[in-house]
Amino acid sequence: MIKKILKWTGIILLILIIGVTIVTASRQHLKYDAAYPNIHASKDTAIIAKGKHFVYGLAHCTECHSTVNADSLISLGKEVPLSGGLAFNLPVGTIYSKNITPDKETGIGDLTDQEIARVLRFGVHANGEAVYDFMPFHNMSDEDLTAVISYLRTIQPVKNKVPGNKLNLIGNAVKAYMVKPVGPSGDVPASIKADTTASYGKYLVLSVGNCAGCHTKRDLSGAYLAPLLSGGTPMGGGLIPPNLTNTPEGRIYTWTEQQFIDRFHKGKLFAESEMPWNSFKHMNDDELKAIYEFLKTVPAAKTPDVADK
Ligand code: HEC
Ligand code: HEC
Repeated sequence: MIKKILKWTGIILLILIIGVTIVTASRQHLKYDAAYPNIHASKDTAIIAKGKHFVYGLAHCTECHSTVNADSLISLGKEVPLSGGLAFNLPVGTIYSKNITPDKETGIGDLTDQEIARVLRFGVHANGEAVYDFMPFHNMSDEDLTAVISYLRTIQPVKNKVPGNKLNLIGNAVKAYMVKPVGPSGDVPASIKADTTASYGKYLVLSVGNCAGCHTKRDLSGAYLAPLLSGGTPMGGGLIPPNLTNTPEGRIYTWTEQQFIDRFHKGKLFAESEMPWNSFKHMNDDELKAIYEFLKTVPAAKTPDVADK
């Protein structure tokens, strides 16, 4: 009797495993629909300059869309090519940043402005697949998205074929059941006034700089597990993105605005730090003032215990 039950349990388990494997495999290239934003690259030099300021500054595209060891070049102020190929070794496998130079074969030269805008705003690749949510630009205003894409259109094409993403079994399961396109949280503004207010700072922190992405504890799929900006999990070199909320435990609680600005202009102090300091140091004082003003308004939150995942 026991033997029979064991035999049947084994058969049922096997069928289940085969079933899950087949379904998982069939869900590796799911296609999604999303609107094409009405974005058209401009040739206006002021707009292109604004895009460049974001790409090499707060939006730090260059830190991810360059090859390894670009950091020291970035710290010297060199404009490293955005030819992609940086490998992110994650629990789900290896994800590679893409070549975003205008090369037609290996870059994004063949994509329309609207296809590029859709990747950044709605998280859907030109081929309809979901984008891994590395980039927090979903709520970027039409004007700023236009500026960034306008700049991308002006850079030198670089031929560099980036390898396809290599997922492990966990990665296949995460892709099949958890990865969905991430889009804007509401109506995206046509333009946002750049000033030194907390409201502009909030936009910079959440929709351009991705400060919350690192400074908040998250799960494998990227969902937030703790109050926004209350501190992240250990990263390269064991360094922990500190709590930035308005609490005595918060790292900048006692900092004056000028100390905050000076800290950013210094750039990276710990070589292993994953914070893109060398891009952020290109921010201007008004952007830094706005960010400081916003951080001072973030409700106090306890730093999560990094041990209990
Ligand atoms: C934190 C790292 C990171 C930052 C910062 C970043 N990217 Fe990306 N980007 C990636 C990764 C990784 C992918 C590939 C995602 C995937 O495979 O689904 C990607 C994909 C893309 C794609 C899709 C290309 C294609 O062929 O489909 C575009 C376009 C893009 N990024 C543009 C940008 C721009 C513009 C910026 C700055 C405004 C930027 N990225 C900032 C990591 C980053
Ligand atoms: C890719 C991850 C990442 C991103 C994005 C990021 N940080 Fe950090 N941050 C870290 C890590 C790791 C540390 C701790 C190591 C260090 O100080 O460099 C840190 C440290 C800090 C510190 C403390 C510095 C000190 O000297 O005590 C401040 C302030 C800070 N981050 C603010 C920000 C702000 C504001 C943004 C967005 C504009 C941001 N961070 C984006 C990872 C990140």
